[in-house]
Amino acid sequence: MASTTLITNIEGLVGLHPTDAVLRGQQLASLPMLHKAYLLIENHEIAEVGSMETIDRNRFSGSHQIDATGKFVLPGWCDSHTHLVFAASREEEFVDKIKGRSYEEIAAKGGGILNSARKVAEASEEVLFAAAYSRLQQISKSGTTTVEIKSGYGLSVEAELKMLRVIKKLKERSSLQIKATFLGAHTYPPPFKNDHAAYIKLITDEMLPVIATEKLADFIDVFCEKGFFSPEETEQICLAGRAHGLPAKIHGNQLHLSNGVQTAVKLNAVSVDHLETMDEAAIACLAQSDTIGTLLPNAAFFLRMTDPPARALIESGAAIALATDYNPGSAPSGNMNFVVSQACIRMRMLPEEAINAATINGACALQLQDRCGSIRPGKRADLVITQPISSLAYLPYAFGSSCIEQVLVGGDPII
Ligand code: NIG
Ligand code: FE
Repeated sequence: MASTTLITNIEGLVGLHPTDAVLRGQQLASLPMLHKAYLLIENHEIAEVGSMETIDRNRFSGSHQIDATGKFVLPGWCDSHTHLVFAASREEEFVDKIKGRSYEEIAAKGGGILNSARKVAEASEEVLFAAAYSRLQQISKSGTTTVEIKSGYGLSVEAELKMLRVIKKLKERSSLQIKATFLGAHTYPPPFKNDHAAYIKLITDEMLPVIATEKLADFIDVFCEKGFFSPEETEQICLAGRAHGLPAKIHGNQLHLSNGVQTAVKLNAVSVDHLETMDEAAIACLAQSDTIGTLLPNAAFFLRMTDPPARALIESGAAIALATDYNPGSAPSGNMNFVVSQACIRMRMLPEEAINAATINGACALQLQDRCGSIRPGKRADLVITQPISSLAYLPYAFGSSCIEQVLVGGDPII
């Protein structure tokens, strides 16, 4: 591919935000779009955008051209929450859930996270890498160009480091932008069930120093939840992470009013993710903070839970992002198009709000807003080109069918 590419006749160039700031409250519905536009890519970055009415075609005679007549061009999806390094799927638990067993019951009997941890412990770095790499290829075809990946199915020094080294290798080998999150505090492994202090010591004294030395993570995460990690334990672990330069991204308020939101805000976490179980105090607390609430509608859908209160969060002025939570237990799908559709259909987000939450706000939830998440000269040319569609709202409306024709990662086509 030539290092200069010109996309012409774009029906709608979407996401031309004037700043890289996170969008909160009413701002979330503002999705600046230029009709009949062109976009120039140079050296893997967005170089210039403008109207077809003023284009000087002579300037671009030597460049590779893509005709986007009738098509929309958007920033690639920024999926800010996944667990896509895992060794095996868990459809047997899916069937158990159909029969009526709850996620918590399955977890209490050694299923759930512990089931995945046993399989990761047995898998080699090479096997984990190959499986995760093919998942990255699959999600990039559905428009994801930036992705966060968590550890958390290791739960021992050796296996957590193995997962993080796999993520490091994915960063090196994949063209997607990847951020790594250390989630050693996903659940207590059986030997430490009754000795929480000893497992926390393993995290703070054995795992974190190696992670910091080898630069294996960008963030630290804790599953702050009844039966998992208490707010006090979450705080202790995140403060140790911060001492090693890792900002927090927390799993909170998924199954119970776990004070996850309040804990995340107290820790000045970059994001607090899930939020299926919220009350007014948690909503108000988040709204008054800089912490982004990341909603994971695929997990709520798959576990048949109440959806996060997206409208109440937006109306209270909170900043929210959307992500897949791609993992074998609660969300076995990395498809951001389905997330955006679900956000509109089930959580009553407007298409503009959902697209912003899945792009610029997702980028902010990864502290990557200077590189991706919107259409601005200087950002990486991570772009989704739709098929010819009647309007932007058609994208979430036509749930389950792919409206994406082409994805460019750093200006290079992947499909
Ligand atoms: O984000 N809630 C905690 N962790 C994952 C699920 C992990 C699993 O079931 O394997 C989540 O939903
Ligand atoms: Fe998760």
